Amino acid sequence: MSKWVRAHTNIALIKYWGKENEEFIIPKNNSLSLTLDAFYTDSKVTFDSSLKEDQLILDGEKQDSIALKKVSTILDIVRDKADFTDFALVESINYVPTAAGLASSASGLAALAGAASAAAGLNLSSKELSRLARRGSGSASRSIYGGFVEWEKGTNDETSFAHPIDNADWDIGMLFIIVKQAKKDVSSRDGMQRTVATSPFYDGWLATLDQDLTDIKISIAEQSINKVGAIAERNALKMHATTLGAQPPFTYWTADSMLAMEAVRTLRKEGYSVYFTMDAGPNVKVICKQSEMSKIKKALMSYFDEEQIISAKPGPGIQVLENE
Ligand code: ADP
Ligand code: DP6
Ligand code: CO
Repeated sequence: MSKWVRAHTNIALIKYWGKENEEFIIPKNNSLSLTLDAFYTDSKVTFDSSLKEDQLILDGEKQDSIALKKVSTILDIVRDKADFTDFALVESINYVPTAAGLASSASGLAALAGAASAAAGLNLSSKELSRLARRGSGSASRSIYGGFVEWEKGTNDETSFAHPIDNADWDIGMLFIIVKQAKKDVSSRDGMQRTVATSPFYDGWLATLDQDLTDIKISIAEQSINKVGAIAERNALKMHATTLGAQPPFTYWTADSMLAMEAVRTLRKEGYSVYFTMDAGPNVKVICKQSEMSKIKKALMSYFDEEQIISAKPGPGIQVLENE
C-alpha cells in the first residue's frame, strides 16, 4: 500500500569517500555517522500500470534523468523482488536543501527505499532496507537508523550495510552553518569518483581510516564530545585534502566555509567544546554539546546571521507516517 515514509539526514563523522564497486555502491571504507532531527525527506511511491516510465516529483517539480536514475535503480530492485513490472510515481518533499552538501541524497534515497518497499507490500528488515537504500546513494544506507550508525563496507551486495552503534542519547548535538543553499557544481558521486581515479592523496586518506574509526568508537562509548569532535574534524580535513590533488583539482570550500571553520577554531580557543565537519558542499557543521548549543549559536552570531545557523539534535530512524 502507498504510504508516506520519512527518513532523516545523517552527517558522517568518519566519511565515505570513494567506491570499490560503482554499480553496487560498495565503498572503499567503513563510515560512521550521526542521524539528525532537523533535516528529513518524506516520500510516497505509487505503482501504476498505466504509467509509461518512472516519474520523480520532488518538491512539486518533475526531476531530470540523472535524479531519476538513482530512483529507478531502487524501484527496479523492488519490482524484481515483488515480481511485477509497473512503473511508479514517486512524490517527495525535502525538508533539507537539495544537493547542497546537507545530505539530501541520504534522507531522499532512504525514504524512497522505505516507501517503495511499503508500496510493493515487501516486508523488509532494517538490514535489507539499508542494502536497498545503499543502491540509490551510499550515505542513504545509514539513514535507515537513528543515532550513531556505522556502514560496514563489506565486500559485495549482501555484506555491505549499516547498523546502529549507539543511540546518541547523551549530550551531543550539531549546529549547521548554512553559507550557501544552491546546488553544488560537483556532485558527491562525481567528486568521489574523480578523487579515487586521479588524486595521489587518495591512498593516504585510506591509510589512516581504520585508526580514526577505532578511536571514534571508543570516544563515542566514553561519550566524550572533545574526542569525538577532534577525530571527526581531522577526518573531514583529510577527506577534503584529497580533492585538491584530483585532476582536474576541485574543492567544496568557499571563502565563507573557511570563515566558519575559523570561527569554530576561535570559539574553541575561547573554551567552547566545538569542532567542525564538512561534506561535499560548502556548508559547515559544528559538533558540540546539546546543552551548550544555544550559547554557541549566540557566539556564532558574531560571524553569521541567525537564520544561517540551524540547531540539530540526534534524530530517529526511518518511519512510516501512518496517518497520512
Ligand atoms: P547531497 O549533499 O544533497 O546529498 P548529492 O550530490 O549526494 O548531494 O545528491 C543530490 C542528489 O540526490 C539530487 O541531485 C538527487 O538526484 C538526489 N535526491 C535528493 N533528494 C532526493 C529525494 N527526495 N528523492 C530522490 N532523490 C533525491
Ligand atoms: C562527503 O552518499 O552522497 O557526504 O553514494 O554517490 O550517492 P553516492 O554519494 P553520497 O556521498 C556522501 C559523501 C560525503 C560523506 C558521507 O556522507 O559519508
Ligand atoms: Co549525498
